[in-house]
Parts: sequence; structure tokens; C-alpha cells
Amino acid sequence: MSKVQVFDHPLVQHKLSIIRDENTGSKTFRELVEEVAMLMSYEVTRDFPTEEVEVKTPVGPAVTRIVSGKKVAIIPILRAGLGMVNGMLRIIPNAKVGHIGLYRDPETLMPVEYYCKLPGDMGERDAIIVDPMLATGGSATAAIGFLKDRGIRNIKLMCIIAAPEGIKAVQEAYDDVDIFAAAVDSHLNDHGYIVPGLGDAGDRLFGTK
Ligand code: PRP
Ligand code: URA
Repeated sequence: MSKVQVFDHPLVQHKLSIIRDENTGSKTFRELVEEVAMLMSYEVTRDFPTEEVEVKTPVGPAVTRIVSGKKVAIIPILRAGLGMVNGMLRIIPNAKVGHIGLYRDPETLMPVEYYCKLPGDMGERDAIIVDPMLATGGSATAAIGFLKDRGIRNIKLMCIIAAPEGIKAVQEAYDDVDIFAAAVDSHLNDHGYIVPGLGDAGDRLFGTK
């Protein structure tokens, strides 16, 4: 069974409370989603391999460590995943970014693909799929499936709020994909929205409602 890591860090929880608040406007919402993604990246990259190097400080030689040639791709699920990318790039500046466009059909809640553009050397990269919301898990499992079909083996999923239903769906479909979330909420409502969640992440990020 894959691992689910929930972030109980005070700064993440504080920022998430403001993100959830219906009175928070798009500008603040965007800034905080970016900041939470940046803070979460710190933990998501914890297993990156390092190697020893020697550098010369103004005082003398130092044997120290650097990340050893890890190739990473950040894969936002459009649209809402875009809100997490810049925060992650501040921590992993050399990552490439691939995009998978999916929207949920409002009737069936099934994901519909409308765009996919991945780095040319994707086969050599580890993938971190990002999307603020893991609700039914349909979008995330579809995105993981696209990457698996292209031979990518090492995949992580990072979201801001997850529903138990979505976690279960991903774990049942792919038991090797670890899930990172700032919070796991109670359940989904009849429209497939996370309760209490934060509403429609894409609309709140981009001010489209
Ligand atoms: C939202 C969200 C996820 C998806 C989660 O996107 O950003 O991609 O729903 O739901 P699921 O787990 O049930 O698939 P939406 O379809 O609203 O598209 P948008 O990002 O373009 O607003
Ligand atoms: N997509 C969202 O944007 N919010 C939810 O609560 C569920 C799916």
C-alpha cells in the first residue's frame, strides 16, 4: 500500500485555514496555494539522493553534499494544478514542467482529457503530479495512468486537500504512488465536492466564478 503523508506543520495549517475561508479573494488564494506548495515540496523531495562534494569556503575546504543528478518533472493537472507550480519551482528550480489537461464532467464526474504536453525526456524523470484537490480520485488516477503508459515508474501525487474517497481510489489503482496532502477532509458531497474543502479550486484561483 502506498504512503499517505499529511502535513501538520503549523505554517501549512495556518495558510490552509485562510485558503479555505470563503472570504479569501483570488489574489490571496493564489499566493497561499503557491506558498503551501512550496512548503510541501520540502518534504516531498526528502528522498532525493545526495552525493558528497568538496567546496572551498573563504575559510577552507568543506566536504558537503549536493542533490545527485535527480531529474524531476512537475506535472500540474490543468487548470488548478497550475497554482502550485511556481511555489514548487522555487524549491526545485531545475525541474521541468509537463501539463495534463483534464476536467471533470459535471454529470458523470469522470475526467475528460483535453491536453497533454510532457518533457521530451520524461522517461528519465521522476514525476510529481500536482493538483490542489483529490476528490473522487478520477483525475489523479487518469493522470497517473498517462504517465505509467509512457513508462514513468516513479510517481508521487501532491495535493492540498484530499478526500478519503480519492485516496482510496488512487491507492487501489496504483499502490506504488505516494500521496502528500496538507489535509484529509471528511467526505464528498452529492456533487463530488470535498466537504468542507475549499470549493472549486480552479474558480477560486482564477476568479472565474
Ligand atoms: C478539479 C480539481 C481536480 C479535480 C478533482 O478540477 O482541480 O483536477 O477537480 O476531482 P476528482 O478527484 O473527482 O477528479 P476541475 O475538473 O474542476 O477542473 P479545473 O481545474 O479546470 O477547474
Ligand atoms: N474539485 C474542486 O475544485 N473542488 C472539490 O471540492 C472537488 C473537486
